[in-house]
Amino acid sequence: MQEKPVIIAVCGKGGVGKTSISALMVRMLSEDPSRKILAIDADPAVGLSFPLGITVKKTVDDIRNDLIRRLKNGEESNKDELIKSLDYELFSALEERENLAFLAIGRPEGDGCYCQVNALLKDIIRGIAGNFDYVIIDGEAGVEQISRRVMEMVTHLLLVSDASLKGRTIVETIKQVAREKCAINRSGLIFNKMRNQEEIDAVQAKTKLFTCGAILENDMIRNFDREGRSFFDLHDNDTITQLNTAIKTLLSSA
Ligand SMILES: Nc1ncnc2c1ncn2[C@@H]1O[C@H](COP(=O)(O)OP(=O)(O)O)[C@@H](O)[C@H]1O
Ligand SMILES: [Mg+2]
Repeated sequence: MQEKPVIIAVCGKGGVGKTSISALMVRMLSEDPSRKILAIDADPAVGLSFPLGITVKKTVDDIRNDLIRRLKNGEESNKDELIKSLDYELFSALEERENLAFLAIGRPEGDGCYCQVNALLKDIIRGIAGNFDYVIIDGEAGVEQISRRVMEMVTHLLLVSDASLKGRTIVETIKQVAREKCAINRSGLIFNKMRNQEEIDAVQAKTKLFTCGAILENDMIRNFDREGRSFFDLHDNDTITQLNTAIKTLLSSA
Protein backbone atom coordinates (compact mmCIF):
# COMPACT_ATOMS: atom_id res chain seq x y z
CA MET A 1 0.00 0.00 0.00
CA GLN A 2 1.37 3.37 -1.07
CA GLU A 3 1.62 6.06 1.62
CA LYS A 4 -0.40 9.22 0.93
CA PRO A 5 0.27 11.70 -0.42
CA VAL A 6 2.83 10.52 -2.94
CA ILE A 7 4.78 13.62 -3.91
CA ILE A 8 6.84 13.23 -7.06
CA ALA A 9 9.30 15.94 -8.15
CA VAL A 10 10.47 15.87 -11.76
CA CYS A 11 13.99 17.26 -12.08
CA GLY A 12 16.78 17.53 -14.63
CA LYS A 13 18.50 19.77 -17.14
CA GLY A 14 16.48 22.21 -19.26
CA GLY A 15 14.94 20.70 -22.39
CA VAL A 16 15.22 17.03 -21.40
CA GLY A 17 11.43 16.60 -21.22
CA LYS A 18 10.49 17.35 -17.57
CA THR A 19 7.33 19.22 -18.51
CA SER A 20 6.25 16.63 -21.11
CA ILE A 21 6.83 13.78 -18.66
CA SER A 22 5.06 15.64 -15.83
CA ALA A 23 2.03 16.20 -18.05
CA LEU A 24 1.93 12.57 -19.20
CA MET A 25 2.24 11.42 -15.60
CA VAL A 26 -0.62 13.70 -14.51
CA ARG A 27 -2.73 12.30 -17.35
CA MET A 28 -1.89 8.74 -16.36
CA LEU A 29 -2.53 9.19 -12.63
CA SER A 30 -5.76 11.15 -13.08
CA GLU A 31 -7.31 8.41 -15.22
CA ASP A 32 -8.59 6.84 -12.01
CA PRO A 33 -11.36 9.25 -10.91
CA SER A 34 -11.07 8.19 -7.27
CA ARG A 35 -7.60 9.74 -7.07
CA LYS A 36 -7.09 13.40 -6.28
CA ILE A 37 -4.14 14.87 -8.17
CA LEU A 38 -2.34 18.17 -7.67
CA ALA A 39 -0.02 19.32 -10.47
CA ILE A 40 2.43 22.11 -9.64
CA ASP A 41 4.38 24.04 -12.24
CA ALA A 42 7.40 25.00 -10.12
CA ASP A 43 9.46 26.19 -13.07
CA PRO A 44 9.60 29.98 -13.40
CA ALA A 45 10.07 29.36 -17.13
CA VAL A 46 6.41 28.14 -16.97
CA GLY A 47 4.89 25.61 -19.32
CA LEU A 48 3.01 22.76 -17.63
CA SER A 49 -0.37 24.45 -18.07
CA PHE A 50 -0.18 24.02 -21.88
CA PRO A 51 0.11 20.23 -22.12
CA LEU A 52 -2.53 19.98 -19.37
CA GLY A 53 -4.88 22.25 -21.32
CA ILE A 54 -5.27 24.61 -18.35
CA THR A 55 -5.45 28.40 -18.37
CA VAL A 56 -3.58 30.01 -15.49
CA LYS A 57 -5.34 32.94 -13.88
CA LYS A 58 -3.32 33.39 -10.71
CA THR A 59 0.14 32.20 -9.67
CA VAL A 60 2.06 31.83 -6.39
CA ASP A 61 3.93 34.98 -7.39
CA ASP A 62 0.62 36.86 -7.77
CA ILE A 63 -0.42 35.68 -4.29
CA ARG A 64 2.85 36.95 -2.88
CA ASN A 65 2.46 40.32 -4.58
CA ASP A 66 -1.12 40.63 -3.28
CA LEU A 67 0.06 39.91 0.24
CA ILE A 68 2.83 42.49 0.05
CA ARG A 69 0.39 45.06 -1.25
CA ARG A 70 -2.08 44.36 1.56
CA LEU A 71 0.62 44.56 4.19
CA LYS A 72 1.79 47.88 2.77
CA ASN A 73 -1.75 49.22 2.79
CA GLY A 74 -2.16 48.11 6.38
CA GLU A 75 -5.13 45.93 5.39
CA GLU A 76 -3.85 42.94 7.31
CA SER A 77 -3.03 43.81 10.89
CA ASN A 78 -2.37 40.47 12.53
CA LYS A 79 -0.84 37.14 11.66
CA ASP A 80 -4.07 35.14 11.91
CA GLU A 81 -5.78 37.42 9.44
CA LEU A 82 -2.81 37.12 7.14
CA ILE A 83 -2.80 33.33 7.25
CA LYS A 84 -6.55 33.24 6.63
CA SER A 85 -6.22 35.46 3.61
CA LEU A 86 -3.28 33.41 2.35
CA ASP A 87 -5.40 30.25 2.51
CA TYR A 88 -8.17 32.00 0.65
CA GLU A 89 -5.80 33.33 -2.01
CA LEU A 90 -4.30 29.90 -2.42
CA PHE A 91 -7.59 28.16 -3.03
CA SER A 92 -8.59 30.87 -5.47
CA ALA A 93 -5.34 30.24 -7.35
CA LEU A 94 -5.95 26.49 -7.72
CA GLU A 95 -7.34 25.71 -11.15
CA GLU A 96 -9.59 22.68 -10.76
CA ARG A 97 -10.87 20.22 -13.35
CA GLU A 98 -12.58 17.08 -12.13
CA ASN A 99 -10.05 15.20 -9.96
CA LEU A 100 -7.15 17.45 -11.00
CA ALA A 101 -6.00 20.68 -9.37
CA PHE A 102 -3.24 22.86 -10.79
CA LEU A 103 -1.00 25.56 -9.35
CA ALA A 104 1.79 27.55 -11.04
CA ILE A 105 4.65 29.33 -9.29
CA GLY A 106 4.71 32.07 -11.94
CA ARG A 107 7.55 34.19 -13.10
CA PRO A 108 8.75 36.59 -10.41
CA GLU A 109 10.16 39.87 -11.60
CA GLY A 110 13.03 41.70 -9.95
CA ASP A 111 16.00 40.54 -7.92
CA GLY A 112 15.66 38.38 -4.87
CA CYS A 113 12.00 37.56 -5.49
CA TYR A 114 12.43 34.06 -6.72
CA CYS A 115 13.75 32.60 -3.47
CA GLN A 116 10.84 34.20 -1.60
CA VAL A 117 8.37 32.63 -4.00
CA ASN A 118 10.16 29.33 -3.50
CA ALA A 119 9.80 29.72 0.26
CA LEU A 120 6.08 30.39 -0.19
CA LEU A 121 5.79 27.39 -2.50
CA LYS A 122 7.38 25.20 0.16
CA ASP A 123 4.82 26.35 2.76
CA ILE A 124 2.01 25.82 0.27
CA ILE A 125 3.13 22.26 -0.50
CA ARG A 126 3.33 21.54 3.22
CA GLY A 127 -0.11 23.06 3.77
CA ILE A 128 -2.13 21.45 0.99
CA ALA A 129 -0.38 18.25 -0.15
CA GLY A 130 -2.35 16.25 2.43
CA ASN A 131 -5.60 16.99 0.53
CA PHE A 132 -4.37 14.99 -2.45
CA ASP A 133 -3.34 11.41 -3.27
CA TYR A 134 -0.64 12.41 -5.73
CA VAL A 135 1.28 15.66 -6.12
CA ILE A 136 3.38 16.08 -9.27
CA ILE A 137 5.92 18.90 -9.22
CA ASP A 138 7.43 20.00 -12.53
CA GLY A 139 10.66 21.46 -11.17
CA GLU A 140 12.94 24.16 -12.50
CA ALA A 141 16.07 23.07 -14.34
CA GLY A 142 19.03 22.50 -12.01
CA VAL A 143 19.45 22.02 -8.27
CA GLU A 144 18.33 25.34 -6.74
CA GLN A 145 14.92 24.17 -5.47
CA ILE A 146 16.46 21.01 -4.08
CA SER A 147 19.30 22.80 -2.32
CA ARG A 148 16.87 25.36 -0.86
CA ARG A 149 14.80 22.47 0.49
CA VAL A 150 11.68 23.49 -1.45
CA MET A 151 11.40 19.78 -2.20
CA GLU A 152 11.60 18.74 1.45
CA MET A 153 8.17 17.03 1.40
CA VAL A 154 8.89 15.09 -1.79
CA THR A 155 8.60 11.30 -1.44
CA HIS A 156 9.90 10.32 -4.90
CA LEU A 157 12.38 12.08 -7.13
CA LEU A 158 11.96 11.45 -10.85
CA LEU A 159 15.20 12.37 -12.56
CA VAL A 160 15.05 12.98 -16.29
CA SER A 161 18.00 12.99 -18.68
CA ASP A 162 18.56 12.89 -22.39
CA ALA A 163 21.56 11.05 -23.82
CA SER A 164 24.01 13.92 -23.23
CA LEU A 165 26.80 13.85 -20.67
CA LYS A 166 25.48 17.22 -19.43
CA GLY A 167 22.04 15.76 -18.77
CA ARG A 168 23.49 12.72 -17.03
CA THR A 169 25.87 14.78 -14.88
CA ILE A 170 23.14 17.15 -13.68
CA VAL A 171 20.87 14.31 -12.51
CA GLU A 172 23.74 12.80 -10.52
CA THR A 173 24.29 16.14 -8.77
CA ILE A 174 20.56 16.58 -8.13
CA LYS A 175 20.29 13.10 -6.65
CA GLN A 176 23.21 13.73 -4.30
CA VAL A 177 21.92 17.12 -3.13
CA ALA A 178 18.39 15.69 -2.70
CA ARG A 179 19.68 12.99 -0.42
CA GLU A 180 21.80 15.37 1.65
CA LYS A 181 19.42 18.34 1.89
CA CYS A 182 15.94 16.88 1.59
CA ALA A 183 16.44 13.28 2.75
CA ILE A 184 14.76 11.99 -0.40
CA ASN A 185 15.77 8.37 -0.63
CA ARG A 186 13.54 7.11 -3.39
CA SER A 187 14.57 8.21 -6.84
CA GLY A 188 14.62 6.86 -10.36
CA LEU A 189 16.08 8.04 -13.62
CA ILE A 190 14.21 8.13 -16.92
CA PHE A 191 16.18 8.46 -20.13
CA ASN A 192 14.02 10.48 -22.51
CA LYS A 193 14.20 11.19 -26.24
CA MET A 194 16.10 7.96 -26.88
CA ARG A 195 16.77 7.07 -30.53
CA ASN A 196 16.77 3.27 -30.18
CA GLN A 197 17.59 0.35 -27.86
CA GLU A 198 21.27 0.65 -28.68
CA GLU A 199 21.33 4.21 -27.35
CA ILE A 200 19.35 3.15 -24.23
CA ASP A 201 21.88 0.38 -23.50
CA ALA A 202 24.79 2.78 -24.05
CA VAL A 203 23.55 5.48 -21.65
CA GLN A 204 22.37 2.99 -19.04
CA ALA A 205 25.84 1.49 -18.96
CA LYS A 206 27.25 4.94 -18.16
CA THR A 207 25.20 5.71 -15.06
CA LYS A 208 25.21 4.30 -11.56
CA LEU A 209 21.78 5.77 -10.82
CA PHE A 210 18.76 3.50 -10.54
CA THR A 211 17.11 3.64 -13.97
CA CYS A 212 13.33 3.21 -13.88
CA GLY A 213 12.71 3.47 -17.59
CA ALA A 214 13.45 4.87 -21.02
CA ILE A 215 11.26 6.77 -23.46
CA LEU A 216 11.88 6.89 -27.17
CA GLU A 217 11.75 10.02 -29.25
CA ASN A 218 8.19 10.48 -30.44
CA ASP A 219 7.11 13.07 -33.01
CA MET A 220 3.60 13.10 -31.58
CA ILE A 221 4.93 14.67 -28.34
CA ARG A 222 6.89 17.25 -30.30
CA ASN A 223 3.92 18.06 -32.56
CA PHE A 224 1.45 18.42 -29.68
CA ASP A 225 3.94 20.69 -27.95
CA ARG A 226 4.45 22.76 -31.08
CA GLU A 227 0.70 23.32 -31.36
CA GLY A 228 0.26 23.82 -27.60
CA ARG A 229 -2.28 20.99 -27.52
CA SER A 230 -3.38 19.20 -24.36
CA PHE A 231 -1.68 15.85 -23.80
CA PHE A 232 -5.07 14.63 -22.56
CA ASP A 233 -6.03 14.52 -26.29
CA LEU A 234 -3.12 12.21 -27.20
CA HIS A 235 -4.16 8.74 -28.27
CA ASP A 236 -2.54 5.91 -26.34
CA ASN A 237 0.92 5.38 -27.77
CA ASP A 238 4.29 3.79 -27.01
CA THR A 239 5.50 6.84 -25.06
CA ILE A 240 2.58 6.58 -22.66
CA THR A 241 3.19 2.85 -22.20
CA GLN A 242 6.92 3.43 -21.62
CA LEU A 243 6.17 6.14 -19.05
CA ASN A 244 3.53 4.05 -17.25
CA THR A 245 6.05 1.24 -16.83
CA ALA A 246 8.70 3.66 -15.55
CA ILE A 247 6.36 5.27 -13.00
CA LYS A 248 5.20 1.90 -11.71
CA THR A 249 8.85 0.91 -11.27
CA LEU A 250 9.61 4.17 -9.45
CA LEU A 251 6.63 3.88 -7.11
CA SER A 252 7.31 0.25 -6.27
CA SER A 253 11.02 0.85 -5.60
CA ALA A 254 12.07 0.56 -1.96
N1 LIG B 1 9.92 11.69 -25.91
C1 LIG B 1 9.97 12.80 -26.65
N2 LIG B 1 9.97 12.72 -28.01
C2 LIG B 1 10.04 13.82 -28.78
N3 LIG B 1 10.11 15.07 -28.31
C3 LIG B 1 10.10 15.24 -26.98
C4 LIG B 1 10.03 14.11 -26.07
N4 LIG B 1 10.03 14.60 -24.80
C5 LIG B 1 10.12 15.94 -24.91
N5 LIG B 1 10.18 16.33 -26.20
C6 LIG B 1 10.30 17.70 -26.74
O1 LIG B 1 11.46 18.29 -26.20
C7 LIG B 1 11.24 19.67 -25.94
C8 LIG B 1 11.55 19.97 -24.48
O2 LIG B 1 10.62 19.26 -23.67
P1 LIG B 1 10.10 19.84 -22.28
O3 LIG B 1 9.18 18.80 -21.73
O4 LIG B 1 9.58 21.22 -22.45
O5 LIG B 1 11.48 19.87 -21.46
P2 LIG B 1 11.85 20.58 -20.06
O6 LIG B 1 10.58 20.80 -19.32
O7 LIG B 1 12.76 19.60 -19.39
O8 LIG B 1 12.57 21.85 -20.40
C9 LIG B 1 9.81 19.95 -26.33
O9 LIG B 1 9.79 20.49 -27.61
C10 LIG B 1 9.15 18.58 -26.32
O10 LIG B 1 8.09 18.50 -27.26
MG1 LIG C 1 9.75 22.56 -18.52
